Amino acid sequence: MQEPTTNSNLACIFDLDGVLVDTAVYHYKAWKQLANDMGFDFTEAQNEHLKGVNRMRSLDMILNWGGVEKTAEEKEVLATSKNTQYVSMINKMTAAEVLPGTINLLTALQQAGIKIALGSASKNAGVILERTQLTHFFDAIVDGNLVSASKPDPEVFVKGAAMVGVSPAQSVVFEDAQAGVDAALAANMKVVGVGQPENLKGAHVYVKDLSEITVEEIKALVKG
Ligand code: BG6
Ligand code: MG
Repeated sequence: MQEPTTNSNLACIFDLDGVLVDTAVYHYKAWKQLANDMGFDFTEAQNEHLKGVNRMRSLDMILNWGGVEKTAEEKEVLATSKNTQYVSMINKMTAAEVLPGTINLLTALQQAGIKIALGSASKNAGVILERTQLTHFFDAIVDGNLVSASKPDPEVFVKGAAMVGVSPAQSVVFEDAQAGVDAALAANMKVVGVGQPENLKGAHVYVKDLSEITVEEIKALVKG
């Protein structure tokens, strides 16, 4: 049997929503309910613009689209209400909702000795990873509770690389949102764009999902 090669000087940092699991539909339902309750609609096209955007900034954008103004206190109440509904949906998630290629790639990276970190804007990342049985793959988890600056600020990825002891130049980020690609580039990391190239400008490689990339291709990306 072939021994796995160790490569502990490399790190792969994964965004969560839209890369490992598809939670966009739950965010959409919860935001739509909130918008409808305030008397205006919220479309799937608008929801696309909220990818990678943190909770309060998302709320500000939705209120702006609806032409509604709220005080800081009212916004806190609205954000909490949306999150309560969102959490009630993600609490029912299962391993069946993990996106194609995820388990195979994470397993192969682990076997190759490559460090695996999470770099997500979500404050609910912990519960999503638990429900979908992905937690055990991660050497470090950086989520919305650990960062002060939202993507496109590079903080989330810089922290992830530091927590696994790998330099930014040896780190590869997987992202489905433009704000995340920009954050990774600002951190001086290589980026795999997951989704449509026109929504992920500047990524070094594009894939439809994680089944389209191998450990060898990831290693080549860092060398190149
Ligand atoms: C990101 C999502 O991963 O997390 C955004 O792409 C979301 O749509 C953000 O707003 C914050 O999530 P949460 O779970 O903290 O409200
Ligand atoms: Mg995402």
